[in-house]
Amino acid sequence: MASLNLSHIRGDSAFAEFPLTRLVRPSLSLPAGRVGFRVLGQAQASSEPDLSVKVNGLQMPNPFVIGSGPPGTNYTVMKRAFDEGWGAVIAKTVSLDAAKVINVTPRYARLRADANGSAKGQIIGWENIELISDRPLETMLKEFKQLKEEYPDRILIASIMEEYNKAAWEELIDRVEQTGIDAIEVNFSCPHGMPERKMGAAVGQDCGLLEEVCGWINAKSTVPVWAKMTPNITDITEPARVALRSGCEGIAAINTIMSVMGINLKTLRPEPCVEGYSTPGGYSCKAVHPIALAKVMNIAKMMKAEFSDGDYSLSGIGGVEKGADAAEFILLGANTVQVCTGVMMHGYPLVKKLCEELKDFMRSHNFSTIEDFRGASLEYFTTHTDLVQRQQEAIRQRKAVKKGLQSDKDWTGDGFVNETESMVSN
Ligand SMILES: Cc1cc2nc3c(=O)[nH]c(=O)nc-3n(C[C@H](O)[C@H](O)[C@H](O)COP(=O)(O)O)c2cc1C
Repeated sequence: MASLNLSHIRGDSAFAEFPLTRLVRPSLSLPAGRVGFRVLGQAQASSEPDLSVKVNGLQMPNPFVIGSGPPGTNYTVMKRAFDEGWGAVIAKTVSLDAAKVINVTPRYARLRADANGSAKGQIIGWENIELISDRPLETMLKEFKQLKEEYPDRILIASIMEEYNKAAWEELIDRVEQTGIDAIEVNFSCPHGMPERKMGAAVGQDCGLLEEVCGWINAKSTVPVWAKMTPNITDITEPARVALRSGCEGIAAINTIMSVMGINLKTLRPEPCVEGYSTPGGYSCKAVHPIALAKVMNIAKMMKAEFSDGDYSLSGIGGVEKGADAAEFILLGANTVQVCTGVMMHGYPLVKKLCEELKDFMRSHNFSTIEDFRGASLEYFTTHTDLVQRQQEAIRQRKAVKKGLQSDKDWTGDGFVNETESMVSN
């Protein structure tokens, strides 16, 4: 039996009294690369933790993936990501006609902890009103091809988005696949700009549209397809289920959360302010991490219940800056963890810190592989009704333990009759 203690995860003493006791199974006993929620294995404490993962047949040196956005905009930065050791790179989202994509500046606004007008507080929230790639598709495709030629063993994933047009999706898939990319992530989740053209979140928020578009995509594509979900929806498991039923191999969540960063109280204008006006944008960074965890948890539960018989994957995204943030996504069942804003703030070498911190976490629990702990925390989520029942039962058991007097010195005058009753057997 491997005995584990959740208090190590965050050093939170509140968890210390709930040791996890699980059966040890050899980690090879379940198929790799899916939300299989493997039972914790007992590792060899002496060996170096192995961060490598195999996801939908794609071998990665570690689970850290560059999330689609500025860190995957061109050849130079994607090459840098591979050189620094990122497990995979998802390029900035491309579409057929980049001429239709017109960005504005400023397009970012940040939230600092303890802001109060101070520019020194830690950045915890990031809003962007950036669109998908505004670079010509031909240029992006040339760079994908060059990267795959130079890094044939590394995983390059194209992120794509198109209008509600079957032929357009088919053409885009065909063209990105010709570059040799390893997988496709479909952006069903961009919250601003593109929904006005029935793209991005407009599809991810409409299960009927999503089913049809996923059908087109999966009939055409020959590489694994991940559907990237928007959190700007009541129940994220609904589109995730539709995407998997329609043939996608994986789910990625979350894209940014619809937000308004703030209003400038001097000018009374919203931020980010473009010619005096603004539009709601996508929120990311540390502040979204708890929301992303909840969404990933919901998707993971749904996948475990309904899709555990296939090679499906889950990619956790949102506010990752530390190995512990990634460990949390993996504990909920994620196979990989994407980072976007974290790279914009800390640069590409961040991956080294993430790997070291994740390994430290694994060492502290004697986990030797990612599969040893993937999905391990999922079973501890339940309904509030169940929490009430569990607590009532725990109180009942604690009272039962207290039943009876331990010693004659415990008899009291006022409680004498009850104390006598507590030791009667019938
Ligand atoms: C400036 C910026 C641009 C982004 N562009 C894209 C994009 O083109 N396609 C996409 O799928 N997601 C895009 N995203 C969303 C990220 O990939 C990610 O889902 C989100 O930011 C949450 O993760 P994070 O907190 O690690 O940034 C963008 C995010 C930011 C901050």
